[in-house]
Amino acid sequence: MVKLTEISKPTTTQKRSTSWGFSLLFSTVAIVVVAMLVIQLDTYETVAFPLQEVSEPMYVPARKNSASLSGVEKVGSGLLIGPEDIVYEPKSGVIYTGCHDGWIKRVTLSVSVADLVVENWVHTGGQPLGLAIDESGDVFVADAYKGLLKVSVDGKIELLTDEAEGIKVGLADGVVVAKNGMVYFTDATYKYNYRSALNDLMEGRPHGRLLSYDPSTKETKVIARDLYFANGVELSPNQDFVIFCETFMRRCSRYYLHGEKKGYIDVFAKNLPGLPDNVRYDGDGHYWMALPWDNSLLFTYTQKYQFVRKIFAFTLKHLRKMPDLMKFGGVIVLDLEGKVVGGYYDETWGMTSSGVKIGESLYLGSVAKTYITRLNLTQHPLRLIS
Ligand SMILES: *[C@@H]1O[C@H](CO)[C@@H](O)[C@H](O)[C@H]1NC(C)=O
Repeated sequence: MVKLTEISKPTTTQKRSTSWGFSLLFSTVAIVVVAMLVIQLDTYETVAFPLQEVSEPMYVPARKNSASLSGVEKVGSGLLIGPEDIVYEPKSGVIYTGCHDGWIKRVTLSVSVADLVVENWVHTGGQPLGLAIDESGDVFVADAYKGLLKVSVDGKIELLTDEAEGIKVGLADGVVVAKNGMVYFTDATYKYNYRSALNDLMEGRPHGRLLSYDPSTKETKVIARDLYFANGVELSPNQDFVIFCETFMRRCSRYYLHGEKKGYIDVFAKNLPGLPDNVRYDGDGHYWMALPWDNSLLFTYTQKYQFVRKIFAFTLKHLRKMPDLMKFGGVIVLDLEGKVVGGYYDETWGMTSSGVKIGESLYLGSVAKTYITRLNLTQHPLRLIS
């Protein structure tokens, strides 16, 4: 041990031994700290992502656009807590949205946001994420904690399924219902739950599944497995394939339901400019896909370097919440072939989880906001990019 008094009046030899002592102490402490951290970090098991399957995006929406400058409206401000997905019921002119507080809210649309009516419709007791509606007005819900639910027009909640092949659905995320009644939904990860979902990215293994539910047999089938966080699902306009997105691989694939490719899977859109969430067809030749996160350097490094993921996993465990490092987000628009033709990006639109075009307005859901953002598309026409 070195006494401070010895430091204040050092002789030459004392000075040397003092600095030696300090270095030794410092090195020992540093080695112990690093070793402890390495041992800690090593408890997080990570694997490499198949990075040979991804590359830089070909099309990136402009980061500055007229929409970011002016003219967005807030729908249901303060009443819609973290509205994740949005589904529109044209006959009654209402949208349903699943909120972070467990409520599915019903919003009666109107031209002026001041005249919108927001009602609490049903509380799922879980975390309603993806929503879909059939012809009769029944709403299908991918509830992160509960599984696949059906809510009848009069608000009765029924659990349709919460497991497939003996494995419980870990995080039901996206859902779509076909005209013939078949329901397609995603299990983002069977290993983690909604609260611990980021650990799935940190681990790097594909725990996601695309599932189908047949209401006539009540059977749940796995139709695609080993997916890297299975998220949004949507049907093609003539319902010959179902699109499903893998958030962490920045791509969406399609599973053919009919025709000569029936049962096959191929890539619909890859190397997207961000991480895909919900995707919706607009009935007019375009898919609107939400990108909560941009393909930032931070994401690229996280995906590429396992030690970065271990550090994040450690941080997640001890902070319980990740600092909000991802800012840019928004929606991209894809044509029928899966080519990105434009989009709306903004620094304040990070965590955008859905984008639905209704008439000439775009409605954006976001897990990080307390309202739905509405954008007038007549005033802010889509800018085509190439
Ligand atoms: C959108 O903008 C157009 C042109 O300014 C206007 O005519 C229309 O009423 C607006 N729509 C809504 C829903 O505000």
